[in-house]
Amino acid sequence: MCGIVGYIGNKQAQPVLVSGLKRLEYRGYDSAGIATLNQKGTATLLREKGKVAELEKKVATHKTADQVGIGHTRWATHGAPSKRNAHPHTVGDIYLVHNGIIENYQDLKAELIKHDYDFKSDTDTEVLTALIDYLYKDAASLLDAVSGALKMVVGAYGIAVLSVKNPEEIVVARKGSPLIVGVGDDEVFVASDGSALVGYTDQVVYLHDGEIGLCTREGVQLYDIDANTVDAKVEKLEMDLQSIQKKGFDHFLLKEIYEQPESLRSTLSGRVNTDTMTAKLGGLNMSDEELRAIENVMVIGCGTAYYAGLQAGYLVEQFVGDVTFNSYIASELRYRSFAVPKNTVALIVSQSGETADTLACLMELKRRGVRTLGVVNAVGSTIAREVDGGVYVHVGAEISVASTKAFTSQVAAIMIFGLMVAQAKGVGVKEISDYIRELELLPSEIEKCIVAHDKEMERLAKKYAQYEHALYIGRDTLYPVALEGALKMKEVGYVHAEGYAAGELKHGPIALIDDTFFEVFYLQDNWLYEKAQSNLIEMNARGAHAIVITDTDKRIAAEHVIRVNTKLHLLTPLVFNVLSQLFAYYVAVMRGNDVDQPRNLAKSVTVE
Ligand code: F6R
Repeated sequence: MCGIVGYIGNKQAQPVLVSGLKRLEYRGYDSAGIATLNQKGTATLLREKGKVAELEKKVATHKTADQVGIGHTRWATHGAPSKRNAHPHTVGDIYLVHNGIIENYQDLKAELIKHDYDFKSDTDTEVLTALIDYLYKDAASLLDAVSGALKMVVGAYGIAVLSVKNPEEIVVARKGSPLIVGVGDDEVFVASDGSALVGYTDQVVYLHDGEIGLCTREGVQLYDIDANTVDAKVEKLEMDLQSIQKKGFDHFLLKEIYEQPESLRSTLSGRVNTDTMTAKLGGLNMSDEELRAIENVMVIGCGTAYYAGLQAGYLVEQFVGDVTFNSYIASELRYRSFAVPKNTVALIVSQSGETADTLACLMELKRRGVRTLGVVNAVGSTIAREVDGGVYVHVGAEISVASTKAFTSQVAAIMIFGLMVAQAKGVGVKEISDYIRELELLPSEIEKCIVAHDKEMERLAKKYAQYEHALYIGRDTLYPVALEGALKMKEVGYVHAEGYAAGELKHGPIALIDDTFFEVFYLQDNWLYEKAQSNLIEMNARGAHAIVITDTDKRIAAEHVIRVNTKLHLLTPLVFNVLSQLFAYYVAVMRGNDVDQPRNLAKSVTVE
């Protein structure tokens, strides 16, 4: 959420900053800006409302040779998207970019006004900028001023700060919002996300919460909040240029939908074995005895990650025996007075590993002494570092704001965890072997389905793209698919879409059915087929515009039937889900939406 970049070295800073911002644009894109300093300490501040492309046009007519600078692409929290509220903010001698939220900014602002500061924007960030400027008047260095200000601040932040008094340094800091420093030859890069650094350096230092970094051309020195030095651990950035490019696809979303067979193979690799019919995850840090003792699993996430937990829970409870497997929306759970039964393990599911609500649940569970395991994609992210153990899903960079390949792999990873618990508890091979076999088959079945139905989904989208409302309906393991399908349609298609359990239709939502709605109905040829089909018939009787996605070749009455030919049975919902992704993608394209960066959204929600 919001992107930060910074550069100090021998290159012209502006192009480096703009290219970094373009890579980070998926994290927020309602305004953007850069500030650079020349060696005399004269600053050039350029800001624009809208996308980085707008800023880029401005930079083209205001070029500087400055070799030091910071930049930002914003997702508005305090104050509407506008040039005035765009970062960097400047007050006095200070230029600052910020991700996160300063909760006590009103109190700080009131104090600063008493010291003759006035404010031009509606942001909390400008207040922090003024506070640093105020403290720097008496502080020995920018580092001291930043450290003093951060001690007074309540909230979350990733920041990069420049002062015209010393154009040879950038001070960075983090608490609850990621910040990475890339180290090159006589140059240092700053970014809130590794993708901005790819191609420049693969040597990176991940700041921990509470750390401040002093960046110069020579490198970075880390400090704690009291300005005591801290050793910086240089790590290798595991990301390549290929993974952050569109590779010939029109959009990242389509590329990432198509990548699922491959990304899923990475998730499964070395973890499921159909010769021995076993499943194993390396990083759980749990003995068989500890796995055997588990009685309750809480799966926690937001949005698509929450639905992945729900989806996996429906599947795992079919074979795991006497273990409860419940999923929770992190933003709800964090404020509930929930009890944790004994022998509970919490799975913390997050693509970015930075989602604020999910992280808050993790910290609360840790405080209560619950064992936490991460199901995370972003290597080195905060959640990945805070959990007691866990699994990386290894899907590579997910750039499109709408999450697709992460969902599929999160479900698979949680299933593998469930299989491990089942194995430890002595559940027989007979009970779990079909799940293991289907996990192994899943990548090729998804591949087959995409190839077989891509064009069909495009044609379908053409027919339904003008509708403003939709119901997505499924039963049992297809209910999470309905929820996730509706979410995709909402966020990229901007179609009002609701996911419902089929059995719930007659308890209210069936009243909605009219010619302004279409209905996506997931129907699997399994033990609930007859029940689900009755729900479809009830809908049809009320004039539904039903699109049925099914694996059966039985006769089905609907406006459109998509017949999926798959060898799967238990994991068919994951194949159906890929069709929902394609459908939402094509509807978004037909409606002329910004597919990869849908309005009002941003990737990685690091604020509450
Ligand atoms: C939906 C989507 C969001 C995320 C949610 C959690 O397509 O992308 O709903 O799934 O914000 O994000 P992570 O997984 O990064 O915690």
